[in-house]
Amino acid sequence: MNLYKHVSNAINEKLGTTVNLEVPRNRDFGDFSTNCAMVMAKSAGKNPRELATEISAQIAELPFVAETSIAGPGFINIKLRDEFIWESACLPQSPHTDNPITIDLDYGAYNVAKSLHIGHLRTSIVGDTFNRIARLLGHKTYSWNHIGDWGKPMALVIAWIERLHPDLPYFHDNFTPNTVVDFDIEPAELNKYYPLASAFAKENPEFQAHAQDIKAKFQNGHAGYFALYEKFLAISLDMMNETVKRLNILPFDYDLGERNAAKYLDQVEEILRSKNLIQESDGAQVIVVKRESDNKPMPPYMWTDSRGADTYDSTDLAAVYCRKLTDNPDKIIYFTDLRQALHFEQLFRASQMSGIFDYENLEHIGYGTINGTDGRPFKTRDGNAAGLDDIIDAVNQAVHARVAESGKNLDADTISAIALSAVKFNDLMHDVRSDYIFDPNAVTSFEGRTGPYILYTAVRLNSVLKRANEAGDATYMPMTIDERNLLIGIMDFERIVHTAFDNRATDLVANYAYDLCQLINTFYHNCPILRDDIDAKTRAGRLHIAKVARDTLAMTIDLMGLKIPSEM
Ligand code: ARG
Repeated sequence: MNLYKHVSNAINEKLGTTVNLEVPRNRDFGDFSTNCAMVMAKSAGKNPRELATEISAQIAELPFVAETSIAGPGFINIKLRDEFIWESACLPQSPHTDNPITIDLDYGAYNVAKSLHIGHLRTSIVGDTFNRIARLLGHKTYSWNHIGDWGKPMALVIAWIERLHPDLPYFHDNFTPNTVVDFDIEPAELNKYYPLASAFAKENPEFQAHAQDIKAKFQNGHAGYFALYEKFLAISLDMMNETVKRLNILPFDYDLGERNAAKYLDQVEEILRSKNLIQESDGAQVIVVKRESDNKPMPPYMWTDSRGADTYDSTDLAAVYCRKLTDNPDKIIYFTDLRQALHFEQLFRASQMSGIFDYENLEHIGYGTINGTDGRPFKTRDGNAAGLDDIIDAVNQAVHARVAESGKNLDADTISAIALSAVKFNDLMHDVRSDYIFDPNAVTSFEGRTGPYILYTAVRLNSVLKRANEAGDATYMPMTIDERNLLIGIMDFERIVHTAFDNRATDLVANYAYDLCQLINTFYHNCPILRDDIDAKTRAGRLHIAKVARDTLAMTIDLMGLKIPSEM
């Protein structure tokens, strides 16, 4: 149950006002505390300590309160009754919202014919965990993998294939969808084309111009380019699915990106024109989104570029329109690199101005950069921008080395599960907005604030429960300080899930997992369960605690999309 909500509601009702209830890190003086006497003293015309005495006496009358005390200038500490803690901890954990809404989540957003890079790690991990949190609370979510499949990279790859195989029929204007072509692309080859083509284009203006032409023709429905594109789209979608599996994130509800959105461009343009929102600027068509009150540069939003081609901007506005028609969401939340903040601010303004979507229901969660131990954006050993697979492989190796060193014998699936926990937990535990340092060695430690530590704690609990080979019993209540602290920690789960959702702060869930594991391990050391000298009643009570702890930890681990191995 949601302990915080229960206690807070009861206090508010008792006092007839809403007070600020805190969860102290140090529970020596109380399980909860409030500074309400200090806040209300002035308007009540009383001195804070005097008012605290009155309020604390009232709180002490609540049936679940054991005692209250006053500290400092007027803080009130509240200690709960043990029986109440025990009974509450026996109730199921079922966080749910009273106001379910529909949310479209835009994360992942991989690009066709471009390999996934380190920048796609956080959008996938944070977006997926946020999705799981929202769903657990009972919100309706739709995840959109807004794939990049309509821009210059497509054109460059087509141009590159034309350079390699000029005789293929795709490049002719008389190509029809019925033209039979015997041509296959090797998936491993495909990912090389874009970087090669883009480097080549920088040196060769002619090639560059040709790619621009291809882009315009492709967007206007050139049958040959389209047929070729469908070939590499299929390969890319397979690779994306591989990644989804490898990262253990939920399958996307839609793998539909820019090309799909482009179908709505005409309708959106009609709306924009009817509101006179499109202007000409240096040959391009733009929407001016600047406001009087802006004190930083706010460039116009590009509707079409000077060659008349669709842009990242235009397809993104069309995507908002498409989602409105498809899911009719209450909110759309985007998870991308912080460096796209300006783009989204422009998009949200354009959505509002056109009446397509309310500005305040569009949100951008921008994440910081993943740096190496040198404090610079993480690169592979040969100095190249790290691909997503490079990261996972590096961590897999680090886990391998550690496990080998410890003399343990773990199978490949277990090693992968540990490696994944290392990558994901390290990502989730940091505030999304901040940069963090990625050190494959540090993140794989079995101790400290790491994914492997979390999994290890879960594996150990599972093993105790399995070895016990008997059900716990909730009738007897063992209540040493460690048992008490653990039970209260367990019951903080629901509050954490709600706060994580409300604040879009997935790091709260990861750090909660760590705090819970600390409590579990203290309990494990100080409150033996299976030792011979432990009487049957105590053992059954402790087994009950271990089971509730395991279930709560498992739910938390599930929110992070991690898998608990059977041994570690
Ligand atoms: N494909 C883009 C990238 O890889 C991210 C797209 C984010 N979503 C969006 N609707 N713009 O950087």
